[in-house]
Amino acid sequence: MDTINKIINRIHIFYSLGVIYSIKCKYSQLKVALYYVFFDFDKWHIYSTFQCRPYKKIVVDMVNSLNVDSVLEVGCGMCDILGRVNSKAKIGVDSDIKILNVSRIIYKNKINLVHSDLKNLDLKYFNNIDCLIMVNWIHCISPEELHNILSPILPKIKYLVVDSIRDDAEAELNYKYRHDFKFLSKYTKEISSNSIKKEARDIKIFKVAPC
Ligand SMILES: C[S@@+](CC[C@H](N)C(=O)[O-])C[C@H]1O[C@@H](n2cnc3c(N)ncnc32)[C@H](O)[C@@H]1O
Repeated sequence: MDTINKIINRIHIFYSLGVIYSIKCKYSQLKVALYYVFFDFDKWHIYSTFQCRPYKKIVVDMVNSLNVDSVLEVGCGMCDILGRVNSKAKIGVDSDIKILNVSRIIYKNKINLVHSDLKNLDLKYFNNIDCLIMVNWIHCISPEELHNILSPILPKIKYLVVDSIRDDAEAELNYKYRHDFKFLSKYTKEISSNSIKKEARDIKIFKVAPC
């Protein structure tokens, strides 16, 4: 019993030093790097695996707490988030065909993957969708554009999960837009928000008000 306690204690020490976290992160990066050799996608996906970026698990946990049947993620990348969400129906949309091809290999029949930019995405994909996720890329589009794109989509969904860059994020991090989502207050109510400590990023869930 003593030996088992000692082993558990050591694992805890390793954990608290971040050693196991680092090993898991490096190992996952190595696996994605192997895909990179064949698919030549944006290197961001190598450095930002589920194991290396804590915000992804937070999004997954927040979405799973909603108990929804159908989820659509725009800008799904390698489906690190969508692949871990517990919903019966999943649609992943991304404008980058290279990363989508990797997701197609990993998630085969489990996720319906669509190659499209959000701007051109047919509204039919939002029929029967409970929750829309858009994280870690909407800082590239202006609040006006986001408003215009979301206006016809909001009446079709129940929840919207987005991220916003907090004001304390350093300027050199080069985020073009920091959304306050003021325009959403007309159609939705913010029901939860989580701050990601090391990232100056908040994850927010908005519930769409019935018309
Ligand atoms: C930084 S990655 C984040 C991936 C995923 N959301 C995550 O957090 O793991 C951003 C992804 O959004 C996609 N993307 C960017 N702008 C987009 C747009 N307008 N429509 C669809 N996908 C877009 C990129 O191709 C990329 O795969």
